[in-house]
Amino acid sequence: MTLLIKGGEIVTAESRYRSDILVDGEIIRAIGDGLEAPLNAEVINATGKLIFPGFIDPHVHIHLPFMATFAKDTHATASKSALIGGTTTFIEMCCPSRNDDPLDGYHSWKEKADGNSACDYAFHMSVTRYDKNSETQLGEIVQDGTASFKIFLAYKNFFGVDDFEMFNTLTLAAKLGVITTAHCENAELVSQLQQILVAAGKTGPEWHEPSRPEAVEAEGTGRFATFLHETKAVGYVVHLSCAPALRAAVDAKLRGTKLYVESVLPHFLLDKTYAERAGIEGMKHVMSPPLREKRNLPALWGALQTGLIDTVGTDHCPFDTGQKLLGAGNFTQIPNGIPGLEERVNLMWTYGVKRGLLDIHRFVDALSTRPARLFGLAPRKGMIAVGSDADLVVYDTDYRGTMTARSQHTNNDYNGFEGFAIEGRPSVVTVRGKVQVRDGAFVGEAGRGRMLRRVPQYFIEEIHGR
Ligand code: URP
Ligand code: ZN
Ligand code: ZN
Repeated sequence: MTLLIKGGEIVTAESRYRSDILVDGEIIRAIGDGLEAPLNAEVINATGKLIFPGFIDPHVHIHLPFMATFAKDTHATASKSALIGGTTTFIEMCCPSRNDDPLDGYHSWKEKADGNSACDYAFHMSVTRYDKNSETQLGEIVQDGTASFKIFLAYKNFFGVDDFEMFNTLTLAAKLGVITTAHCENAELVSQLQQILVAAGKTGPEWHEPSRPEAVEAEGTGRFATFLHETKAVGYVVHLSCAPALRAAVDAKLRGTKLYVESVLPHFLLDKTYAERAGIEGMKHVMSPPLREKRNLPALWGALQTGLIDTVGTDHCPFDTGQKLLGAGNFTQIPNGIPGLEERVNLMWTYGVKRGLLDIHRFVDALSTRPARLFGLAPRKGMIAVGSDADLVVYDTDYRGTMTARSQHTNNDYNGFEGFAIEGRPSVVTVRGKVQVRDGAFVGEAGRGRMLRRVPQYFIEEIHGR
């Protein structure tokens, strides 16, 4: 398969220029002016359009047994919605329960994805229990190409790890050279505050945020950073939602702790008044960490623009209205999560770049290049360069539309961003040289996606110079 993309304007994390791109097989063969179309090549006219490297979502949940139910997407539905929204690679959290063997869980997640994803994918391996057996198995999982861990400081008695387990996970991560991602909220404080609120009859979704206030997240972020510092491991805070947690992360960065920060789509655009809406409307907007006071949003945008927030993910996690209603009488039972895999690129483009809050190169960096670099996918992914995978997004900045559940591809009956206008969308999306999307429709090969195997890149000697 040969493709010639002509006349577009290439935009990367560093540069912007008009050029043609020649794709041969799965990779970019040439970039230059006036490239000739080889015999049998498909020519895509990209005049007037931008060309971005395929976007990478570093934090999604596809298969997820959680809160007495399962997230709604399959790898088939999620990957098509990802591609329609311009995301050509996602990294899924593999989350076995505390009672499962890590290796069994890992194999079952891999089996679910294998042959069913239309885009490329990788995994972060959750450590939900730490003992000698898991230590050995985690080593095998890293050997298999899954070179990042995930820990939850929240979700007591479920996914959550205690300080002993965090210390040992980070010590192992440092030894194996892998990065550890972490959900940072103090599990005990959340549990105690939930009990107090429910006992006082405060059971609606509007009480979700007060049960896990900003200080609870700041404590988790600071504690994770302290443990990173002492173990010399490299860490990545997922879905950071508020200014106090950001301050804790930035303080750690200033101390030289190797800590990276992700914030996710809902926290840039929605505030806690969404979860305060009556009944099911509020429940749709319950996630953890929760949607926050509006004053946090400018702090997140500012930190994203300056690079203190490194990446933007989604924490895509679809539960439908029937599932959300499991928590109708008690907010602690509402399955946590808001989907966003299909919406991330277009909404960050519209409300970030178009509104002047986010520089176009930082946009590409935070949504593609930096996730690729941090998680060992570069230079294959996250850049437009000769020899890189031909994952390309030809972006139509003239498109105008509105987010709505009626036209979404995610397997869910609501859209957390219902009614948000968008001012751009992908017109062509390729995965390793194959056109998978044209003008909002999936036109490609359903099982094209491959698991991306990564090698550890965070060895102590390289980072600390010894
Ligand atoms: O509310 C959320 N974030 N749901 C998914 C699980 C997690 O904590 O990432
Ligand atoms: Zn989380
Ligand atoms: Zn998550």
